Amino acid sequence: MDQNNLLPIFLKVKNQPCLIVGGGKIAYQKIKQLIACKADISVISKECINEIEELYKDDKIKLIKSRYYKKYINGYKLIISATSDNKVNKQVYSDAEKLRIPVNIVDEPELCSYYFGSVHSQGSLKVAVSTNGESPSAGKRIRDLIASSMPNKIDSIINRFNQLRKKLKLNMSYYDKKIFFGNLAKKHISFNKGRVVIVGAGPGSPDLLTLKAAESISNADIILYDALIHPDILSLGSKKCKKIFVGKRSGESCIKQNAINEMMKDFAKSGKIVVRLKGGDPFVFGRGGEEAIFLRNHQIPFNIIPGISSGIGVATQTGIPLTHRGYSKGVLFLTGHQYDGNNNIDWDLVSKLNTTLVIYMGYKKLNKIVSALIKSGKDPKTPIGLIEKGTTAQQRVTIGNIGSINEKIKTMKLETPIMIIIGDVLNIYKYLKDNIEIDPTLYSDTNNFGIHQIQDISN
Ligand SMILES: C[S@@+](CC[C@H](N)C(=O)[O-])C[C@H]1O[C@@H](n2cnc3c(N)ncnc32)[C@H](O)[C@@H]1O
Repeated sequence: MDQNNLLPIFLKVKNQPCLIVGGGKIAYQKIKQLIACKADISVISKECINEIEELYKDDKIKLIKSRYYKKYINGYKLIISATSDNKVNKQVYSDAEKLRIPVNIVDEPELCSYYFGSVHSQGSLKVAVSTNGESPSAGKRIRDLIASSMPNKIDSIINRFNQLRKKLKLNMSYYDKKIFFGNLAKKHISFNKGRVVIVGAGPGSPDLLTLKAAESISNADIILYDALIHPDILSLGSKKCKKIFVGKRSGESCIKQNAINEMMKDFAKSGKIVVRLKGGDPFVFGRGGEEAIFLRNHQIPFNIIPGISSGIGVATQTGIPLTHRGYSKGVLFLTGHQYDGNNNIDWDLVSKLNTTLVIYMGYKKLNKIVSALIKSGKDPKTPIGLIEKGTTAQQRVTIGNIGSINEKIKTMKLETPIMIIIGDVLNIYKYLKDNIEIDPTLYSDTNNFGIHQIQDISN
């Protein structure tokens, strides 16, 4: 296509005779577009898919069950041909051109006297994007970007402008009106920059935040944050940024997921940059996927910034290699949260795999989990580690074995969050632990347990 000489117009086709040649899926799509514009539609095709037959039965279209003949196209305002027969398509094009009826042969830019744009409709607003017939996919993407940047209340703004225009019609000249409404539009309509960034805050220590996460937090208008996010991470938000706690603390009632979703939507639609800040990695037992689906369903622009998941960050910083030659060939990340002691986790399979087990949210179910493992054949002497408040100055590590851990921790007061790690790799940790230097930045913060206590209760 050499030059872009298209004249963009919005054609009124309501009650106007429009013709579609073809009875397949693509013809059906075009019929639906015309139905949305209330056109008076005729379809010519020897055979049709069921959906088109249904439209005919419901009196939404006229159907001429025949092959195409030139005599059929007289008197139409618009023609679309969507057959798989190139000869027919070419014939329709040349017949229509002779009669000067606008014609579009689907997917044949050379055989079109007009193109369909990629359309965004919102009340009275209709935006159509053309790429001069060169790339419908690029056109659709641009349409989607425009749609997602459209201010939420654009339709009511347009309606109010219309009412005002009618009132002012008699009193103002065409040029005065143009200037007046131009200024009004500048004041009231601007692209919505609202979006959501789902950010992983890492396992606990603020030093383990990624640079990208830090940058997003500092650019946020609103931060919706979960429990266990370190205050130093929140302090990266600007002075103007509003920080809203939406997390769950055990025993306390918490904001429901639906309410969090609605907050993300409403803030983004009102033009705010929202950071949804979650512990660890947002897509690991963090409901980040559900939130992303919600945003996608509501056409809200979003992106996701990974964080170090606590299963990995806590283990590695503690000195527990999750895989190690000769000890473990893999890692299984599980949640103990929904484990009800029945067979909703296949413990036989889990035991057989011989991989390191990293169990999130499992502390309350510890008894059930270790019993199930032993019942499935796991050696009661298999090492287990419980890491409280990993990567923070209050970290405490308790190591034992799955056969006796429950009994032995009965009198200890363990504090959440707790990561459970089970497997022979804990033997490597026992070898390393006395030689691992503690990050000196953690010495400044000595609450509760002191610095990185380690208790070995294996024997
Ligand atoms: C709802 S899950 C969220 C996991 C998070 N998305 C991630 O990737 O780490 C919360 C669980 O992660 C574990 N956890 C999170 N932070 C921890 C930490 N600093 N130390 C130990 N366990 C932690 C605990 O098992 C806790 O119950």
